[in-house]
Amino acid sequence: MKTYSIAVLPGDGIGPEVIAQALRVLEAVAERFDLRFVRETFPVGAAGVAAANDPLPPVTRAAVVRSDAVLLGAVGDPRLDSAPRELRPETGLLALRKLLDVYANLRPVVVHEALLGCSPLKAERLRGVDVLVVRELTGGLYYGEPRGRNGASAVNTLAYTTSEIERIARVAFEAARGRRRLVTSVDKANVLEVSQLWRETVTEVARSYPDVRLEHTYVDTAAMRLVADPASFDVVLTENMFGDILSDEAAVLAGSLGLLPSASLGAGPGLFEPVHGSAPPLAGRDVANPIGAIATVGLLLRHGLKLADAADSVDDAVAAALDAGARTQDIVLPGDPSIGTAEMGGRIAESIVAEALEGLS
Ligand code: IPM
Ligand code: MN
Repeated sequence: MKTYSIAVLPGDGIGPEVIAQALRVLEAVAERFDLRFVRETFPVGAAGVAAANDPLPPVTRAAVVRSDAVLLGAVGDPRLDSAPRELRPETGLLALRKLLDVYANLRPVVVHEALLGCSPLKAERLRGVDVLVVRELTGGLYYGEPRGRNGASAVNTLAYTTSEIERIARVAFEAARGRRRLVTSVDKANVLEVSQLWRETVTEVARSYPDVRLEHTYVDTAAMRLVADPASFDVVLTENMFGDILSDEAAVLAGSLGLLPSASLGAGPGLFEPVHGSAPPLAGRDVANPIGAIATVGLLLRHGLKLADAADSVDDAVAAALDAGARTQDIVLPGDPSIGTAEMGGRIAESIVAEALEGLS
């Protein structure tokens, strides 16, 4: 039996609850496809600070680098909002991304037909929307030096090198080849030198992909077009901070941030986490939507372990649950009934096992 080792980092807030459901789904996949996942759990974020006074404790560092894939819930805790930088949960996440060198963050945004009514945007604009945000994840403002505070002044630095831009651009063009063959590169080249380098470099990389169309757009225009004409996008290629902002905006298309998964890839083990955060007000109440985390298991199987059939079964099970009317409170229409985190996870896991049983009979 094929065996994979998964480092599980539930993190903070709703992280542990949604990861519990994601793991139920992973177990269902194991049963159906005759696979074995060896899972070990480690602290990160505020949980790391509580356990070891470190948002990315040494045990966690050691575990992730020797795993086949890392599944993370969410980090963030308002109680640490004014903690020094080295004790902030987000510092642990940034350090983890850097440690694994997962420079390519894939954030697919698909609008499910059954959820068209959940978005505040007009349904006719949303039908068929299928966008892949390719966000550079280990460079840019998040990591630039110098950085710091000095009384009434503060500095962060936006820097990219040609090779950092080349490698993320190749990921976007390769992805576009399996899709509708359009890359929209987002920058602010009318103002920023970094964006001018970005544009030149992406244009150069595009020469190796004559079968893919490339367009450049400024980030302000992209933000507007994302809600005005979302179906006009296929792959959106962008730097770290623009990608952070645009992916939350894109979540409005899908109907809820709670639905969106992400995969962060480099040369070694990938890091897989839902796009949503720790959502402290929802934590411990069985109300969070586990679909973001469950769809993240789909990406882990597809991109992390190259198990496309298993990944398809997760995506199909999520779609089936939504088609059957299963709704957590974030995606329910007024007056309709909603279910909790655990029940949503259970329904999705059951449908994977049920398909396995059908296959046997
Ligand atoms: C995300 C989050 C993180 C980011 C935070 C928690 C550091 O917003 O993954 O989108 O900005 O990258
Ligand atoms: Mn974000």
